[in-house]
Amino acid sequence: MENATQTPSAATSTSPQKAQSSTSAATSVETIVDIKDVNFSYDGKKDTLKDISFPMYRNEVTAFIGPSGCGKSTLLRCLNRMNDLIPGASVTKGQINIMDQDIYAPEVDVIELRKQVGMVFQKSNPFPRSIYDNIAYGLRVAGITAPDELDQIVQESLEGAALWEEVKDRLQDNATGLSGGQQQRLCIARTIAVKPKIILMDEPCSALDPIATAKVEDLINQLKSDFTIVIVTHNMQQATRVSDRTAFFYLGELIEYDNTTKLFTSPSKTQTEDYISGRFG
Ligand SMILES: Nc1ncnc2c1ncn2[C@@H]1O[C@H](COP(=O)(O)OP(=O)(O)OP(=O)(O)O)[C@@H](O)[C@H]1O
Ligand SMILES: [Mg+2]
Repeated sequence: MENATQTPSAATSTSPQKAQSSTSAATSVETIVDIKDVNFSYDGKKDTLKDISFPMYRNEVTAFIGPSGCGKSTLLRCLNRMNDLIPGASVTKGQINIMDQDIYAPEVDVIELRKQVGMVFQKSNPFPRSIYDNIAYGLRVAGITAPDELDQIVQESLEGAALWEEVKDRLQDNATGLSGGQQQRLCIARTIAVKPKIILMDEPCSALDPIATAKVEDLINQLKSDFTIVIVTHNMQQATRVSDRTAFFYLGELIEYDNTTKLFTSPSKTQTEDYISGRFG
């Protein structure tokens, strides 16, 4: 299933395909998601995503940035086939490999794929059930029913999401009574409980205050030792704080993909520079 270990550049720009060709700060990383020449259309006529190609690496955080409507969420949803739920929408060209499997191949079990590629949404969406059940639900669906085992995974997941200390004495309370930041961490706990390999996060902090945002960002930094994370954000500081690599999109195209520090300090494309310096978008 797994790719051979590769040594992509930490400083190669603009041509993601060439990202494996150089350089100095090379560290050993392994491709986990490989997007190759992908076009995507919602209606079969207009391409919302055009010729997207780049790899993402295991145990890294990759940020997607770009102005509203450029296709960040669309691409994120391609990675666990959430767009399949939209009538008429499809990947019209190219291939997305995750752990060396073409995820659009006919034999792929989409439910299984979504267990491997979990998602945290912009607006936290806990079920109107207890804190405990929010996490146990997915586990029960996955066939885990032994109370001891459920208790253990619920606790581990809440600890993993840095929420355990805040909720351990009220696990049976309704999750909707948690604060927004706690609800978002609960959703992260729910996602990690089923042990995906990849976690997709679409603007997970956009509804949170700076303190809750900092907690989620700390959490992302911790989670990357166990998971690979892809995060969409409009917050440039957040991208620089949490991500290893950043992909900048504009009008459905990947303009630049690079090591985050490089992209934000010396971008290769004028469009990237204009965007990160606030000249458009
Ligand atoms: N369900 C849909 N049906 C048809 N078109 C859609 C759908 N969702 C998004 N689009 C269109 O696809 C394009 C890309 O949208 P997308 O939501 O991926 O952008 P985004 O980069 O995530 O923007 P934002 O930063 O505002 O969230 C937009 O033109 C949008 O109108
Ligand atoms: Mg979006």
